[in-house]
Amino acid sequence: MKTFYVVLGTIAFVGLLILGLTYQQINSQYRALSSDLQYRTGLLADSLKESVEPFYIANQTKSIYQVLNKFTNRQRLLGLVVYNNKGEVVAASPGLSKEIIDSKQTLERAMDSNRSLGNFLDADGGKIYQYVEPLHQDNSVIGGLMVVQKADYIDEEISMAWRNNLLRLIAQIILSVLVVIFILRWLIWKPIVKLAESIKLSRFGKTEELENASRNDFFKPLTSEITKLSRSLFQARTAASREARMRLEKLDTPWTENRLKEFVKTYLKNRNIFVLSNREPYVHTKNNNEITYSMPASGMVTAVEPIMEACGGMWIAHGSGNADKLTADAEGKIQAPPDEPRYTLKRIWLTEEEEKGHYTGFSNEALWPLCHVSHTRPVFRKEDWVEYRRVNGKFAQTLLSEIKNIKDPIILVQDFHLAVVPRIIKNNRPDAQIGLFWHIPWPSAESFSICPWRKEILEGMLGADVVGFHTQQHCNNFMETVGKDIESVIDSEQFSITHKGHQTFIKPFPISVAFSEESDSAGEKADLSKFGIYTKYVGIGVDRMDYTKGIMERFKGIEMFLENYPTYKGQFTFLQIAPPSRESVEKYREFNEAVTDEAERINRKFSTNGWKPIVLYKKHLSHGEIYPLYRRADVCLVTSLHDGMNLVAKEFAASRDDDAGVLVLSQFAGASRDLKGALVINPYSAEQTAKSIYDALNMPKLEQRRRMQRMRQTVKDYNVYRWASEFLKAVASS
Ligand code: G6P
Repeated sequence: MKTFYVVLGTIAFVGLLILGLTYQQINSQYRALSSDLQYRTGLLADSLKESVEPFYIANQTKSIYQVLNKFTNRQRLLGLVVYNNKGEVVAASPGLSKEIIDSKQTLERAMDSNRSLGNFLDADGGKIYQYVEPLHQDNSVIGGLMVVQKADYIDEEISMAWRNNLLRLIAQIILSVLVVIFILRWLIWKPIVKLAESIKLSRFGKTEELENASRNDFFKPLTSEITKLSRSLFQARTAASREARMRLEKLDTPWTENRLKEFVKTYLKNRNIFVLSNREPYVHTKNNNEITYSMPASGMVTAVEPIMEACGGMWIAHGSGNADKLTADAEGKIQAPPDEPRYTLKRIWLTEEEEKGHYTGFSNEALWPLCHVSHTRPVFRKEDWVEYRRVNGKFAQTLLSEIKNIKDPIILVQDFHLAVVPRIIKNNRPDAQIGLFWHIPWPSAESFSICPWRKEILEGMLGADVVGFHTQQHCNNFMETVGKDIESVIDSEQFSITHKGHQTFIKPFPISVAFSEESDSAGEKADLSKFGIYTKYVGIGVDRMDYTKGIMERFKGIEMFLENYPTYKGQFTFLQIAPPSRESVEKYREFNEAVTDEAERINRKFSTNGWKPIVLYKKHLSHGEIYPLYRRADVCLVTSLHDGMNLVAKEFAASRDDDAGVLVLSQFAGASRDLKGALVINPYSAEQTAKSIYDALNMPKLEQRRRMQRMRQTVKDYNVYRWASEFLKAVASS
């Protein structure tokens, strides 16, 4: 019925529009024809007057007739009449009817007013045009010359135009109706019915249909939003029902995004949470006029982002993308995640000099190698330290102005880039509860003692109420370092340090990932042919291109594996994903080259028949892209020379929803304390790495399953939501 009204409406609209236009067009055609006739008749009368007038004055009626006869039967000319000034006929063309000759109104008016006049009238059963030119002698009117033209052809042409236009109008209406019906049925109605069906199916978890529908160009913006909505609804529903089920079964509820939200609401009474870190969770980049965003490769971001998504609040970080300013407001704020806003990201802008001193210099050339015992010497430059302190001050001041009107805020400071921040905040806002989480290892007191500004760093950190590390060992090292360098009271029972009257608790919080059984790509395995990998066995490594990750040692292990177990030549490929990192630091650039050369050397040594043992892929991949790759691997190598936790190890376990695959894990990564199902190795020993690859590839499926299930259970029980709740609880109760 609705379609009928749309069609009717279209007919009425198109019909009225075309009628209006036709009417205008025909009207102007009519005017053109009439004025053409008037103009032509006027010209003719003028020239005839010049011939007739002298004969009339000379009373030569015969000559007048000769002129009249010349002009009869000419196209549309009906005839001519010459009248005297009494209105009596002096001469008239033969064949002119009496009715025409006797209609003298125009003649009378023309002679009275002494000017030429024309008029259309009906006579002899048709339309005619009379035109009268007064005749003169010595300036007085002595008669009139009437020219009579046929004018029926004007009406005929006009009615012909109407007929043609009406036919065209009908054709246009039929065509428009057909187009409207086609658009309604094929472009709108059918896709809407299909969309409705796929939305219905997606309510039951079958989102593939919807995703296919979202490829339809016309409805793409709408369907892709509905797809996201339905996916989140489905995930939320599954999570809620699983939680309800577990409550019914009286099992301990696992930590989920929802449970963390609930916890923040009830335990923290919805107090405002502020996170500060150097690295931001979303970087906007402009390339060829197109702005895109990505999540950087960072263990800190991997862990903290899901928490901000769950709890909301504000995350203050350095805006490092070349389109960051373009996408943020005047205060540097933007809602994040950009696709599904849940919290505010406030970007801080740093000058080149600040970035060089704070980030490249002191953070990455001094503190990073100082805390990681991986035989790269720290470089301490006074000017870097000055910038480091200045930038810490900038972060702290930005936060202080954001919390100006907020009572008892909770501040979570992240990592080694911001060690001095807690002290500045505490001095200004004693009511703020501050947690500092150190995502990297803390070295022994002796190692740390080489830092020239160690006291200021430690005092800065002790402004926090809680300082968290990944492992108990790092806590012990920190307590010892403080005991050696700072005047303070150390309580080894409670694990706290009291310095200048302020107590700081030192606790381990082993960070983790957001274990999810309903991940978007669950079960999906990647096709490795795009990496040119076709072998039966596949190993994987995912690391930032960083010298602490033991990539060179890993490659040595692979080389030894192929030497010791040559049957694997041509059968095993190792895919190393290593996005470049911290390229402003020389050591990182050198390391990148060394890794590339080493991979090439080993490949040259072994490659045959199009096979090479190492595929080095130096681009950043998102978590969504990496999970299907993890699932394709028989073995994952994490060979860090020193690592706070290493979330790649936990991500590998979280991804393996098929309970298969083996994790080879460095004993120097914090994760080796948590993941008991891994094959733990010393990465400095190429023999151990080689042997563990062999063991992994030969491990019976049952044992793989047992080990993987154990690791998955650990990550599931102690996921990042639990990490956050424990850290937040410690900060809020400090
Ligand atoms: C480690 C640090 C993070 C840092 C990440 C990436 O995981 O703990 O704080 O974000 O490396 O390094 P980048 O220098 O790129 O931030």
